[in-house]
Amino acid sequence: MSAIYLNRDQMPTQWYNLAADLPTPPQPFLGPDGKPITPDMLAPVFPMNLIEQEVSTQRWIDIPGEILEILSRWRPTPLRRARFLEKHLKTPARIYYKDESVSPPGSHKPNTAVAQAWYNKQFGITRLTTETGAGQWGCALAFACKLIGLECKVYMVRISFDQKPLRKIMMRIWGAECIASPSSQTNSGRKILEEMPDTPGSLGIAISEAIEDAVSDKSGKTRYSLGSVLNHVLLHQTVIGLEAKRQLAQAGEKKPDVVIACAGGGSNFAGLSFPFVCDKIQGADLAIHPVEPTACPTMTRGPFTYDHGDTACLTPLIAMHTLGHRFVPAPIHAGGLRYHGMAPLVSQAIVEGLLEPRSYDQIRCYEAAMLWASTEGPICAPETSHAIACVIEEAIKAREEGREKVILFNFSGHGLMDLLGYDKYLSGHLTDYSLPDEVLQKSIEEIKHLPKAPAKKSGRWPTKAKS
Ligand SMILES: Cc1ncc(COP(=O)(O)O)c(C=O)c1O
Repeated sequence: MSAIYLNRDQMPTQWYNLAADLPTPPQPFLGPDGKPITPDMLAPVFPMNLIEQEVSTQRWIDIPGEILEILSRWRPTPLRRARFLEKHLKTPARIYYKDESVSPPGSHKPNTAVAQAWYNKQFGITRLTTETGAGQWGCALAFACKLIGLECKVYMVRISFDQKPLRKIMMRIWGAECIASPSSQTNSGRKILEEMPDTPGSLGIAISEAIEDAVSDKSGKTRYSLGSVLNHVLLHQTVIGLEAKRQLAQAGEKKPDVVIACAGGGSNFAGLSFPFVCDKIQGADLAIHPVEPTACPTMTRGPFTYDHGDTACLTPLIAMHTLGHRFVPAPIHAGGLRYHGMAPLVSQAIVEGLLEPRSYDQIRCYEAAMLWASTEGPICAPETSHAIACVIEEAIKAREEGREKVILFNFSGHGLMDLLGYDKYLSGHLTDYSLPDEVLQKSIEEIKHLPKAPAKKSGRWPTKAKS
């Protein structure tokens, strides 16, 4: 069988929360005074029902029936076997991928967009603001807001705004307003434009603008929605891994030996891998690889320390792997991987030695995407190509070792709106961007004054979230 499907009634009805099982729970966020903030201090930015999920250490959290109903438009997603790539590589490995490209916007992002829009609506919010890199998240939130009945404004990183014009049209079809970031509509955008008029923008800058927009709405009916990084976002994505586990069992596989996904802020990686990270904590033998670009090497070269999640320092301090909040990554086509930080839960799992991050150059990833398209067929998103580059490396390793490994990866999205990058690759105009050490050190130097994250000390949120 090349694809394993589940019935609608086999969809997971609870999300899995890794915070319950990590040997060291993630550190609390810190305020400007360096002290842990209380959950209610996040209330101007997020609705309290999502803040409760953010700070929760409960292992299983029920998925409301109305959210399941919306997700059932495209879930459960298929688990497919990449037989043609296996054959091409002459590998004894069995390669499976969870196909998240089948959602209406084309990626895993609506798994949390729907949940976030639903919880905001329950809380009486009428409008959401957000950032988007490649445009996948902006499309996903626009789609979710349309279905649930909320207004939506998207700040899209300028380089992607120019590289991916079709995504803007998708957002408009689903009723959202999309503008290029940095923009002249916010204080943080204007300040950056004054300092760097030609900046390609970054997710960190777009996040600053979207938060500023939300908190400055006097009506109190606007909140901000983040497409990755935070615990509740990762939580909503765990339907991916929970379904995959069931599907692998249906395919007769006991367990994967290698689990792989690309990681920008960490949400699709966490979604697929966290249920398997739980197995690893309990003693299962498997390797788990989050994959990033060499141009934005947060996990492989960035320190684990406290830093802001955005450029204008509007977010609290978060303990994570980071390249520094003022770091502006080179304009690679995988816009969704151009983020200076990494999810605190993913970062903590790296510190615990549960994950082994990898990084690959842009051209190598396009080569992997081309091989995928010419063997399996689908045209993958530039972000997803990073996972595929790692899958190919692992499959070749299995051939060299003569080992029958089971490799599982997340096909996080299709690349049908990202063809300009392929065009550049095909015409030989694509370049690699290696990050010089001096540039990295300069960026990290700028956050040296911020508190250090204790790597292995138990940290807890100071008080329970109010409901
Ligand atoms: C298709 C696709 N995959 C992966 C990512 C990376 O995000 P995350 O690390 O949150 O999964 C993005 C982000 O935009 C994306 O669009």
